[in-house]
Amino acid sequence: MPEKPKIAIMISGTGSNMEAIASACRRGSLDAVISIVISDDPGAPGLKKAARRGLAVFASPYEKGAAREENEAPIIEALKNAGVSWIVLAGYMKILSPSFVRTFPGRIVNIHPALLPSFPGAHAIKDALEAGADFTGVTVHIVDEYVDHGPILAQEEVAVIPNDTEDTLAVRIHEVEHRLYPKTLQQLFHEDY
Ligand code: GRF
Repeated sequence: MPEKPKIAIMISGTGSNMEAIASACRRGSLDAVISIVISDDPGAPGLKKAARRGLAVFASPYEKGAAREENEAPIIEALKNAGVSWIVLAGYMKILSPSFVRTFPGRIVNIHPALLPSFPGAHAIKDALEAGADFTGVTVHIVDEYVDHGPILAQEEVAVIPNDTEDTLAVRIHEVEHRLYPKTLQQLFHEDY
């Protein structure tokens, strides 16, 4: 039985992907231990959900006007103290500095609600709708020093259907995310990519 890797999950909002990952760990379909859930927003609903699940949580709000590296310093310290081997971004809305990424090279994973390289950025679902795309999807990738960029681990298409709104499309994208993220993490942690 291989050892379970310790992971950190970083969130800014709802935390539904964090919950899907935590449920998969509990069920045993994802062999990993969530050592810490980190947010840049102390009021993030996902942080409360994590605490309710008994997970260790850490909030570190960014100071306006401070350098990104300064804002990230307490988070890097928390990650190092937790001794995690993987950092899983699940709706973390701050862009990580190149120095943060270099501190954990090839060890940061992200999920994006579009088929990268199409529709990078914070409004991927809206952008796909506005572009009139017939389909969009979900990408899980390793994070490099560019935004929504890096080696792709998994992608799955989601069709855009007539009269879709941002909300209706988001529901179907989230369904795929909640299945694809834990499954891809299990492969990444325990199989060769
Ligand atoms: C997801 O759609 C993810 O792809 C994007 O941010 C969203 C987070 O949603 N990066 P949640 O907080 O996991 O519900």
